[in-house]
Amino acid sequence: MNSPAWTMRRLHSVSAAQIEQLADVLIDCVEGGASVSFMHPLTRERAVAFWRRVAQDVAAGKRALLIAEDAQGVCGTAQLIFDLPENQPHRADLAKMLVHRRARRQGLGAALMQAAESAARDFSKTLLVLDCVTGGDAERLYQRLGWVRVGDIPDYALFPQGGLCSATVYYRNLRP
Ligand SMILES: CC(C)(COP(=O)(O)OP(=O)(O)OC[C@H]1O[C@@H](n2cnc3c(N)ncnc32)[C@H](O)[C@@H]1OP(=O)(O)O)[C@@H](O)C(=O)NCCC(=O)NCCS
Repeated sequence: MNSPAWTMRRLHSVSAAQIEQLADVLIDCVEGGASVSFMHPLTRERAVAFWRRVAQDVAAGKRALLIAEDAQGVCGTAQLIFDLPENQPHRADLAKMLVHRRARRQGLGAALMQAAESAARDFSKTLLVLDCVTGGDAERLYQRLGWVRVGDIPDYALFPQGGLCSATVYYRNLRP
């Protein structure tokens, strides 16, 4: 079996160069039509500002940030958000699962999900929650990996080029 074309790691601090590369991935996903909080066109300035805020949260222990790198730099990422109300210390939100279009359909999305679940266990989290565009590429991935579908919220957000999309909420119980 061929070894994957990427390496994966969790960042404890995020460098300026990594922020630029994460911005590249986010801009590419938005250009590709992914509904991931931002409208098209996403300027580099806004994308970098987003990742700077993420970097601050990583440094403060409020988020765990995973990156995958190929020969060109960061090609995929996912986050666990720990900054939740005090009555939910056992859970995290999984967010900003992004794979650059150059690295898709090679199993990186699945590998990021597995790495995120493993990181969540390292932090003693027993419940993960996420939402995704109903019927999109990501939803097939979550279903394939055994996440439990809660339901749909119609007209939840806009696609980057406009037009409302429905969101579907999933959870994953990590208890042994
Ligand atoms: C959703 C997303 C993260 C998936 O990333 P990915 O790296 O392409 O995911 P995978 O490679 O694990 O799986 C994608 C597909 O490739 C297929 N695949 C995996 N390895 C493969 C291989 N070696 N050869 C051929 N196909 C392969 C999978 O079976 C899957 O098929 P399907 O879409 O028909 O179900 C990516 O499309 C993305 O970043 N989208 C934009 C951002 C986004 O929407 N993020 C989700 C926010 S909730």
